[in-house]
Amino acid sequence: MLVLGIETTCDETAAAVVKDGKEILSNVIFSQAKFHEKFGGVFPEMASRMHYNSLIPVIDESLKEAKVSHKEIDLIAVALGPGLMGALFMGLNAAKTLAWAWDKPYVGVHHVEAHLYASMMEHLDHLLFPSLGVVLSGGHTLFLKITAIGNYELIGTTIDDAIGESFDKVAAILGLPYPGGPAVENLAKMGKSGCYGFKAGLVKEKPFHFSFSGLKTKVLYTVKGVGSCSKSPLLISEDEKKDVAASFQETVFDDVIHKANKACRLFDLKAIYFGGGVVNNEYLRKLFKEQCSLPLFWPSRGMSLDNGAMIAGLGFQKYLRSGKSTLDLEAKARLPFFYTQAP
Ligand code: KG4
Ligand code: ZN
Repeated sequence: MLVLGIETTCDETAAAVVKDGKEILSNVIFSQAKFHEKFGGVFPEMASRMHYNSLIPVIDESLKEAKVSHKEIDLIAVALGPGLMGALFMGLNAAKTLAWAWDKPYVGVHHVEAHLYASMMEHLDHLLFPSLGVVLSGGHTLFLKITAIGNYELIGTTIDDAIGESFDKVAAILGLPYPGGPAVENLAKMGKSGCYGFKAGLVKEKPFHFSFSGLKTKVLYTVKGVGSCSKSPLLISEDEKKDVAASFQETVFDDVIHKANKACRLFDLKAIYFGGGVVNNEYLRKLFKEQCSLPLFWPSRGMSLDNGAMIAGLGFQKYLRSGKSTLDLEAKARLPFFYTQAP
């Protein structure tokens, strides 16, 4: 079954063709990041307009790269949320229009669930369950117990900033470009960690929940002085900036691995599947390799940032499970996909 996947939840316009939920024939991503850089984050109205202009060329390119004609596509999958409303409309309306014009079924999928699926799609024949799903992205920080594709229970989440968001905010404080994650990681490579007594927040009676806003404020006060704001001038040297980046990164990821190991022991989990832009981070991958004894599954290259292949892959699974979506499907800026279960 050939599935065309469309992704426009934020600032990537992406389309891909995937066979049987696992074989990627094309994965075309047009990143708008450099256009949003001057705003220090994604400018929603501009994101929608850029999706509007680039979506059809990107879809066209994905068909060409896969060497298939639209007639051979069996299903269209699209991310229907969560994300920026105007951006979501662009992808969803394109998917509906193409489904109608080409007379094909289409299916809406959950963007964050698709991030997790990205690390499973190459291993569909030997998935290990129950396992821990770790989603670390710009908008989400999630620990989930995965019992099957499509079946997730919440173990932990953030009570304030998502991990990617805290990387972006710390990058802005340090005067680094957007998106902040890769910029902080690169600076951290040249710095010494453990210099400033940074600590991640503890959440009362929720051992697997996260809190990073206190850490972000501590970084701000360390580099710009107590009571400063993000626009205040930096009071530290270029070398100290590197140490701040390294210490911040280490603090955040120590918190993640400590809680992941604890959750795996408590819930007797067999493996860890990772998803989301932050799991691109090489330091994070190295830390898990060194300090976690379970099998680890990471999204392959080009699959951890927003992309259409993960949408097409999950769309295939969803279509097998529950059939096609109807044309009245709505985009959702907020959308749950897991069961809440307190640990
Ligand atoms: O999953 P994603 O592409 O978008 C969302 O669905 O949110 O994740 C984007 C986030 C951004 O916050 C970005 O700064 C972060 O992932 N990120 C990283 C790295 N690469 C991207 N964070 C830390 N280290 C990285 N290497
Ligand atoms: Zn994403």
